[in-house]
Amino acid sequence: MKFIAFAVREEEQPYFASWSQATGIEVELHKDIITPENVALIQGFDAVIGLQADQYPDELFAQMEESGIKVLAIRNVGVDNIHLDVAKKHHVTITNVPAYSPNAIAEFSITQLLQLLRRTAEFNARMERDDYRWTPLIGKEIRSLTIGVIGTGRIGQVAIDIYRGFGAKVIAYDPYQNPTLAQQGIYVSDLADLYQQADVITLHLPATPENYHMLNEKTFAQMKDGVYIINTARGSLIDTQALVDAVKKGKVAGAALDTYENELQIFNYDLGQTGVQDPLFVEMKAMPQIIMTPHIAFYTETAVENMVKIALASALSVIETGTAETLVLN
Ligand code: NAD
Ligand code: COI
Repeated sequence: MKFIAFAVREEEQPYFASWSQATGIEVELHKDIITPENVALIQGFDAVIGLQADQYPDELFAQMEESGIKVLAIRNVGVDNIHLDVAKKHHVTITNVPAYSPNAIAEFSITQLLQLLRRTAEFNARMERDDYRWTPLIGKEIRSLTIGVIGTGRIGQVAIDIYRGFGAKVIAYDPYQNPTLAQQGIYVSDLADLYQQADVITLHLPATPENYHMLNEKTFAQMKDGVYIINTARGSLIDTQALVDAVKKGKVAGAALDTYENELQIFNYDLGQTGVQDPLFVEMKAMPQIIMTPHIAFYTETAVENMVKIALASALSVIETGTAETLVLN
C-alpha cells in the first residue's frame, strides 16, 4: 500500500515522515496541488491526500477511478470545492478532517474582532507616519457588545465559549440547534432577529448553494448601524461589493475577512512581482475599516499536525475497513 500527497508544505513534512515510520506505509510528497496536468502521478497509489482551497477539477475523479485510487483524503474541513456527485459517480471515497482544531479558527476570529475594536491597524498606520495621537480612534470592549454567531457547529461553539469568557452577551442562529445551547436560550428565532440585535456578526457556517451571498445589500440593511462583520468561514457567504458599499455608508463599522469570494490565485501565493489585479480586493486593502488575512485562521502548529495525521489515518481506515469516522462520501 502507498499514498501520494499533494500541496505539502515544509512544516507538514515531519508529520508525514513520523506517520510513515510508525505505519510502514510510504507516502510520496508533492508540493503542488493536484491538477489535470500532474494527475498522472497518482498511478500505482492507493490514496490521494489533498489540501487546497481551489476547486478539484471534475476530470480528476475519472483519473482517480481509472488509476484505482480508493480514497481522496483531504486535510481540511470544507468540501465546498469538490463536486461530490462527480466523485460518487467515479466511486472515489472522500474523507475530510472535520475537527483538526476548531480552536484555531475560533481564536483567530476573535483576534480579528479585537483588532477592529481597538483599531490597531489604524494606530499602526499612524505610527508609521510618526503620529502618536490617541483621538479619535477610541475602542470598544467585547463585554459591552452583543455577539451574533451564525453557525453553532464545532467552530461556532468554541467562539461562543470564548466570547462568554469576555463577558459578552451571545446570541446565535443555526437551523440545527445544539441541545445544550438551546437549553441556555442562546438561539434567536431567525436570522432577521439576529441581524436586528447583534453588534458583531461572526460567520461559522459552510458555503452551500443556499448560503451563497447570505450577507447582501438586503441583509446589511436589516443590521444595526455600526455593526462589525467577521468572516473566517467562506468568502462566498458575503456579497463583497455590498459589504464595501455598507462600510462606505457607515452601516458596517468594520469587517475582518480571512476568506474572500475571489481569493483563489491570491491567497497563499506570493504576488510581490505582479500585485493583485482584482480592483475590489485592492480597494478593500486600502480601507482602514476592513482588515484582510490570506485564509490563515486554521494555520497553527496543533491544527497542521492534526490535519496531516487525521487525513492519513482516515485514508488507511477506508482502505482497511471500507469506512472512516471522517467519511464525507462513500
Ligand atoms: P460544522 O459543520 O461543525 O458547523 C457548521 C454549522 O453551520 C452547522 O451547525 C450547520 O447546521 C450550520 N449552518 C449551516 N447552514 C446554516 C445557515 N444558513 N445558518 C446558520 N447556520 C448554518 O463546521 P465547522 O467546523 O464549525 O466549520 C465551519 C466552516 O468554517 C467550515 O465549513 C469552513 O468553511 C470554515 N473553515 C474555515 C477555516 C479557515 O482557515 N478560515 C478553517 C476551517 C473551517
Ligand atoms: C478548511 O479547513 O476548510 C479551511 O478553510 C482551511 C484551508 C487550508 C482550506
